[in-house]
Amino acid sequence: MALEPTREDKFSFGLWTVGWQAQDPFGSSTRPPLDTVVAVNKLSELGAYGLTFHDNDLFPFDATAVQRRQEIDRLKGALDATGMVVPMITTNLFTHPVFKDGGFTSNDRGVRRFALRKVIDNLDLAAELGAETFVMWGGREGAEYDAAKDIRGALERYREAVNLLTDYVTDKGYALRFAIEPKPNEPRGDILLPTLGHALAFIETLDRPEMVGINPETGHEQMSGLNFTHGIAQALYQGKLFHMDLNGQRGIKFDQDLVFGHGDLQNAFSLVDLLENGGPNGGPTYTGPRHFDYKPSRTEDINGVWDSAAANMRTYLLLKERAQAFRADPEVQAALAASRVAEINVPTLSPGEGWESLRTDKSAYEDFDADAYFGGKGFGFVKLQQLFIEHLLGAR
Ligand code: GCO
Ligand code: MN
Ligand code: MN
Repeated sequence: MALEPTREDKFSFGLWTVGWQAQDPFGSSTRPPLDTVVAVNKLSELGAYGLTFHDNDLFPFDATAVQRRQEIDRLKGALDATGMVVPMITTNLFTHPVFKDGGFTSNDRGVRRFALRKVIDNLDLAAELGAETFVMWGGREGAEYDAAKDIRGALERYREAVNLLTDYVTDKGYALRFAIEPKPNEPRGDILLPTLGHALAFIETLDRPEMVGINPETGHEQMSGLNFTHGIAQALYQGKLFHMDLNGQRGIKFDQDLVFGHGDLQNAFSLVDLLENGGPNGGPTYTGPRHFDYKPSRTEDINGVWDSAAANMRTYLLLKERAQAFRADPEVQAALAASRVAEINVPTLSPGEGWESLRTDKSAYEDFDADAYFGGKGFGFVKLQQLFIEHLLGAR
């Protein structure tokens, strides 16, 4: 299998990822700004198909209408020249001091109205550029102090905001869907909608839930100690995986935004296996962008930036190759059968069966040999896991 990324792989990158100048709370930037056109050209050359951005990655917060248009047109020129697309765009509601207590959920009503206007302008831009997905990461929607935020009130304001935005997109006839990106903390002490489960539950309260899904990020779920592959599986199960942010994270700590696979590699492997081979007939479960939201480490110069961009794609393709080998291995097939993995898809009740027939079925209870599970009837999961690891290591 080819390890050279192609457009068909649908790899995309945030302009803020390769463009990150590597400032952190303890140190100033270590790299100069990256021009948008250079970023598009280089990502295209490396094999990506898409670029994503926040409004203020492209033009500054205080840009005049003329400056804004100039930057949009420069981007469009680069897209035309390379064939790159913009599958997703998003709004910066976190950098400017006005958003210090959030955008949609600031205690200050004037800030909330300002935030909504900023997002509406950006929805017009998303439609102009043909984006399919509009991500909402509410990094500043939260609190440090429990007494400072009425959480039920804040959720109600969040809901009011998303309802208004789905009304706007509907009224304008834009072909856009929204994706909420959960994160537990950072920059706020606690962020609203901290995990994908919270976001999925919130979406069901909206006026137009069908227009809103989620954009889960590897590191954000892992910052909460959660299994990203399981979360993605549930998002797929509920038809809500609208987009994704792939990266690497090593345990419960600050948001590391490492290269995909440079964190929990086993979980990255099971994720790629799920995305590529987890469909009903062993095919893909998800056909949208494989979007990387990582930060090239502060230690790197521009060569390291491009090496790390390429590393995200190559790691994904290597894992895809390893996952195909895993699925094709007859010993793996035998181990999966021994572990009864497919049996989970057999309904527990027979067709037409209800509680009455279950209660009268002696084989289900009275004659069932529960004691056989002591000292016998092991599931063989460890043998299966060792095969998984050996394929990941390239040992088979
Ligand atoms: C983060 C987030 C952001 C968002 C981006 C898109 O932790 O910083 O992942 O990078 O993905 O703002 O809205
Ligand atoms: Mn992200
Ligand atoms: Mn992140």
